Amino acid sequence: MKLKWLGHSAFELTSNKGLNILVDPFIQANPSCPLNARDVHPDVICITHGHADHFGDVVEIAKNNPNIIVIANYEISIYLQRKGVNAIGINYGAHVKIEDVEIRMLKAEHTSTFDFEIDTKYAGNPGSFLFTFDDDLKVYHAGDTGLFSDMKFVIGEVYKPDIALLPIGNIFTMDPKEAAIAASWINPEFVIPMHYNSFPSIAQDPNEFEKMVTNCKTLIPKVLQTLEF
Ligand code: NI
Ligand code: MN
Repeated sequence: MKLKWLGHSAFELTSNKGLNILVDPFIQANPSCPLNARDVHPDVICITHGHADHFGDVVEIAKNNPNIIVIANYEISIYLQRKGVNAIGINYGAHVKIEDVEIRMLKAEHTSTFDFEIDTKYAGNPGSFLFTFDDDLKVYHAGDTGLFSDMKFVIGEVYKPDIALLPIGNIFTMDPKEAAIAASWINPEFVIPMHYNSFPSIAQDPNEFEKMVTNCKTLIPKVLQTLEF
């Protein structure tokens, strides 16, 4: 599996068979991402929740293209279907298998609205994703979340991810200290911080986070750097 960080919470995960999964496609308006929406070519897009910094450019990328499958919560999937997107709605605990990857939606402690609409509108429950690749490598993308006990009892003990992508930015999500506790509860082999330094309000030093993580290895990719697992 290849993992590429696009800045903020946007990641590209590419399976061994070449399935390209784009998580939270915040590209065009993402201050830390140098790409344009037309530069990405996903087979699958996963949306953790409705906020603009996660929903991003999904409509622009996937509209009128039935070859791109979008996985989101039920409410977001309905919205996307009305925009001409091939969207599948799922909910906590459910999974879909696409090619050689199982994609499961799990919980996040956050909110979810379509905040780019004139009025903020309900966009279902916020979620996280667990990706299981065919060599049994598991990647957990936490979405936006605070610390919650099921990180230990469900994500850590039941799903046992090898790699955990955790927000550390504070203000909207866990801060580095909480994220380090999450890392100890989830207990993956590798933890990768996300959702920091994209805006002044979420400025954090990922090296300080690394110092707080004692149970697993912290990887701090640069934007557009590819890591292979
Ligand atoms: Ni959010
Ligand atoms: Mn966010």
